Amino acid sequence: MMLKRNDLCWCKSGLKYKKCHLEFDKKLSDLKRKGYIVPGKKLIKTKEQIEGIKKSAEINNGLLDLISENIKEGMTTEEIDKLTYDYTISKGGIPADLNYDGFPKSICVSINNEVCHGIPSNDVILKNGDIVNIDATSILNGYYSDASRMFMIGEVNEEAKNLVKVAKECLNKGLEEVKPWGFLGDIGAAIQEHAESNGYSVVREFGGHGVGLDIHEDPFVFHFGKRGTDMVLAPGMVFTIEPMINAGSHEIFIDENNGWTALTADGSLSAQWEHTVLVTEEGVEVISK
Ligand code: MF3
Ligand code: CO
Ligand code: CO
Repeated sequence: MMLKRNDLCWCKSGLKYKKCHLEFDKKLSDLKRKGYIVPGKKLIKTKEQIEGIKKSAEINNGLLDLISENIKEGMTTEEIDKLTYDYTISKGGIPADLNYDGFPKSICVSINNEVCHGIPSNDVILKNGDIVNIDATSILNGYYSDASRMFMIGEVNEEAKNLVKVAKECLNKGLEEVKPWGFLGDIGAAIQEHAESNGYSVVREFGGHGVGLDIHEDPFVFHFGKRGTDMVLAPGMVFTIEPMINAGSHEIFIDENNGWTALTADGSLSAQWEHTVLVTEEGVEVISK
């Protein structure tokens, strides 16, 4: 359908097309004609959708805050799962992980050499010196938000501490690259440069992703790559950046006992931080704060 200048904009702002997304659409179709990869309409969130995603993120952020207040040595990861389920339901939300593609629990808890998708269990007890990634995804009124943080249990050695710190810096380096009409490839390039200059490696098999109306949407957000490549970023896009940084080689394997948990191939430590971000007219807004 071709909108006319005086029609109402497709984004449901209530404004005429010419006063709203007309210039925006022209810019994207120009770029597309020149050969750039541009986001389709489905990847541009409306104001209403952005509000919904932000409300969902309030629960998700609250959950991670609650976990950070309660996490401690001696706790089982099953207890973290229960905290997640109870808190999310009490706020009117749904843990997005639960039953996602058969995932059996409400949250991912990945310890030390586990890269991601660690499954909470009564048999896994947090111990002194562990570094732990907690990755939470929440649904509220059909809107999704996704974030993860690292936690250090008791006394953690300097090597592990440094990995956790550099992994967070990698996320921040990625965030700094997010700007309208920039490139998705700039994010991965900045992350890879920072990880590798610190002697670490970037996991290849998992990336960030569009998020909001579903848990995983396009685009796939690489955490390595080249500047000036991949999709052009436009205001209204919502996606995650979630670099998984290994102390040793970037290679991983999947635990065949559960079919989910990714582990480092060489047994080295892995750390990850994740934010959900919105591309704005001015730059970036971190939604998962
Ligand atoms: N939160 C994860 C992500 O960042 C998704 C977890 S899906 C699950 O994409 F099934 F493993 F829980
Ligand atoms: Co996540
Ligand atoms: Co994610």
